[in-house]
Amino acid sequence: MASLGFGPGGGGPFNFDYNLAQNDPEKPPLPYREGLRFQITQHIPPPPFGPEYVNDGQGRLVVPWDERQGFRTPARFCLHNSFRTTPPHPDKSTRTLQVVEEIATGDRRGSQVVCCRADDCPDELLVAKIYDPLYYDYLDTDPVFEAEFHYSREAAAYKRLHMVGADGIHVPEYYGSWTFRMPFNGLALQSKTREVRMILIEYIPGTSISSLLNNGVFTQHKEGRGAKQKVRHLLVTQCRIDGIEKHLQLDLKARLHVLRRAAELYTLLLVIGVNQADLAYRNMLVTAVPDSGDPEIILTDLSHAFLLGTQRSTRPMLSEWPSPGRTAMFQDPNWDWVPEFDKSDEKYKAWVRTCWPEGTDSDGIA
Ligand SMILES: Nc1ncnc2c1ncn2[C@@H]1O[C@H](COP(=O)(O)OP(=O)(O)OP(=O)(O)O)[C@@H](O)[C@H]1O
Ligand SMILES: [Mg+2]
Repeated sequence: MASLGFGPGGGGPFNFDYNLAQNDPEKPPLPYREGLRFQITQHIPPPPFGPEYVNDGQGRLVVPWDERQGFRTPARFCLHNSFRTTPPHPDKSTRTLQVVEEIATGDRRGSQVVCCRADDCPDELLVAKIYDPLYYDYLDTDPVFEAEFHYSREAAAYKRLHMVGADGIHVPEYYGSWTFRMPFNGLALQSKTREVRMILIEYIPGTSISSLLNNGVFTQHKEGRGAKQKVRHLLVTQCRIDGIEKHLQLDLKARLHVLRRAAELYTLLLVIGVNQADLAYRNMLVTAVPDSGDPEIILTDLSHAFLLGTQRSTRPMLSEWPSPGRTAMFQDPNWDWVPEFDKSDEKYKAWVRTCWPEGTDSDGIA
C-alpha cells in the first residue's frame, strides 16, 4: 500500500499496526534501571505552557493521533519529533550520574523517577526525574508534548520556589534542569540518539501516603459481616534520617498532623505564586523531623503546577493570604488514612473548622 504521507514510516490510519506499536523493536527496554550510568549537561527549559498560561505561541502543539499513526511506532515518532530547542546553557560541563535505586519507573508510565549518585558528590543521594517521551504512552497521547509539558511546568515551578528559598523545606531542594542523549535500538537506528530532559532534586527519605497504605503499614480488619474496614493497629513506619532508622508513630494524631501540614504547605506555595495543582496522596511524602522524629510532610510533583502573576500567567498573585482550611475542604480525605472518621464528611469538616476557624470556604483557591 502506498504511503498516505503521514510520516516517514509510511502507512496510514487504515492499516495501523497496534501490535507493532506496542512491541516496537526499535525501542530499547527501559534503561532507567539500577546501575545505569549517564552523562548530563545543564539545560534551559522552554517556557511553561498549557492550562493557566496564555496561549501566546510559546507553547507546544499536540501532534494529533491521525498524524501520529503515520510514524507507526514510538521510536520512529520520537526520532522525528523532538523537544524544542532553547538557548544554549552557558555551562557546558558534564556530570556523570549512576542510578542506585528505581523509585517510580516503568514503560508507558510517563516520567521516570530514580535515585542517583553523581560522581562529583558521591555521598549525596539525588533524585533524577526524567522525561523521556519514548517511555510515555504513545497510543493515547503525543508523548513528546506530554514530556515537554511536564518538564517545562515542573522546572518553572521549582525555579520560582528555589528563588525564594522554599525548596529544601516544603518541597525537595532543586538542583537544576538537565539534558542527555539516549540511543535507539536496531540496525536502522543504531547511530541515532534522542534528547531526554530531566530535573535533579534532593532525595527525601520518606514514603508517600499512598505507598504507606498500599504496603500494608496499616493492618485492616473486617468488622462484623459488612465490608466495613477499620484500622486496628499499625502505626509505625520506618524512615532513614541521617543514616539512622527512625520509627514514626502514625497514630490518628500524627496522621491528622500530616493532612494539616499538607493543606498548609499547599497554601504556602500558593502564596509564593506556585499552584501545585495535584495535591494527591501519592505526592505527599511522609518523613521525619530529624531531631524529634515527629512526622513531617514534603510535597512532591510539580509537573502540573502553574505560576501565578508572571507575564504569561492567566492568574495574578493572591492579594491576601488564603486559609489552609479552604484547601483542606477542597481535598477529600483519604478514608483509609483516617478511617476513624468513619467516612463522615461532617466529622472531617468539623476537624477542618477546628484547625482553621477563620476560613473554610471550599471555593476561592487559586
Ligand atoms: N525527591 C524525592 N525523594 C523521594 N521520593 C520521591 C521524590 N520525588 C518523588 N518521589 C516518589 O516518586 C513518586 C513519583 O514521583 P512524581 O510524583 O514526582 O512523579 P510523576 O510521574 O509526576 O507521578 P504521578 O503522575 O504518578 O503523580 C512519588 O509518588 C514519590 O513517592
Ligand atoms: Mg506524582
